Amino acid sequence: MLRIGMLTSGGDCQSLNASMRGVAKSIYDAVDDVEIIGIEEGYKGLIYGNARKMSPKDFSGILIEGGTILGTSRQPFKLMRVPDENGLDKVKAMKQNYKKWNLDCLVILGGNGTHKTANLLSEEGLNIVTLPKTIDNDLWGTDMTFGFQSAVDIATNVIDNIHTTASSHGRVFIVEVMGHKVGWLTLHAGIASGADIILIPEIPYDINSICAALDKRAKQGKRFSILAVAEGAISKEDAALSKKDFKEKKKNPAYPSISYEIGAQIEERTGQEVRVTIPGHMQRGGSPCAYDRVLSSRLGAAAAQLILKKEFGNMVGIRNNEIISVPLSEVAGKLKTVDPESSIIKEAKALGISFGD
Ligand code: F6P
Repeated sequence: MLRIGMLTSGGDCQSLNASMRGVAKSIYDAVDDVEIIGIEEGYKGLIYGNARKMSPKDFSGILIEGGTILGTSRQPFKLMRVPDENGLDKVKAMKQNYKKWNLDCLVILGGNGTHKTANLLSEEGLNIVTLPKTIDNDLWGTDMTFGFQSAVDIATNVIDNIHTTASSHGRVFIVEVMGHKVGWLTLHAGIASGADIILIPEIPYDINSICAALDKRAKQGKRFSILAVAEGAISKEDAALSKKDFKEKKKNPAYPSISYEIGAQIEERTGQEVRVTIPGHMQRGGSPCAYDRVLSSRLGAAAAQLILKKEFGNMVGIRNNEIISVPLSEVAGKLKTVDPESSIIKEAKALGISFGD
């Protein structure tokens, strides 16, 4: 009998269920004698032994369901080697449960932090296959992570809706987009929704340039302006600080988030009325878009193939629209950021979008 463990870890996103369904459907189709063990709440379930036997029925009808049927949790990689409050060795416990459940392999769906732990478990001798999840699209080794396109659609919708009210009132609107330390989500949603200014962490901004772009629009007779601002956007001054000084500064922030800081500076310098909208976790909710359903189904089928061929220690990904596999050791610990010199940035600039640089 083939016994496969499965878990979803880190922040959730759309298409986790679609991906698990993809793996399960392909495995059930290829192998008669197979059991999938659903591990609850990510690595927490693997550490503390919480899991349940799944059946084909569990994976039925979940293609369009948001969230994850297994639950998830954040278990920081940096604490994996640190015993828990009762002195439990987490890595040892994960290995013991893997053995106790007689697993032939473990399928892990997750983002950056998750992949560091997946690589650690692989190095510890467990058979691991992973799938790339995150709305941030910041995972190394794949052009696209599932969840990203669905989140782009939601953030785009938000900015579309903001357009009408911004236009009626003649205001400057800032929409703060998720994405952690990278700007993929903001860049794509900003272009898709026709934002006038896009601020991403990879291109530190100068508030004078932002205000100049706003003035230019006002002089052209435009009554409103929209800024798509990544939650990780950073000014040129802050980007010049040492990591330590920047961390220190962020300990006592003068504003609830970067958008409020930028908004206050714009009001003070230009006299224009500014409003801030933060869609937040809405961007991770609801059904996956069609693109993500296709991507997840393809990745799921490919992950099943890796299991059947016993090609462990790999993540499935997509490159130039072909499904590929990448060694976990290459993925773990690397961030995929937006290249400020990439063609998408040049094209956006050619459209007249300001990046505040
Ligand atoms: O990594 C996905 C993400 O949604 C980021 O875009 C965001 O910074 C973070 O997770 C929010 O984390 P949490 O759900 O723990 O608040």
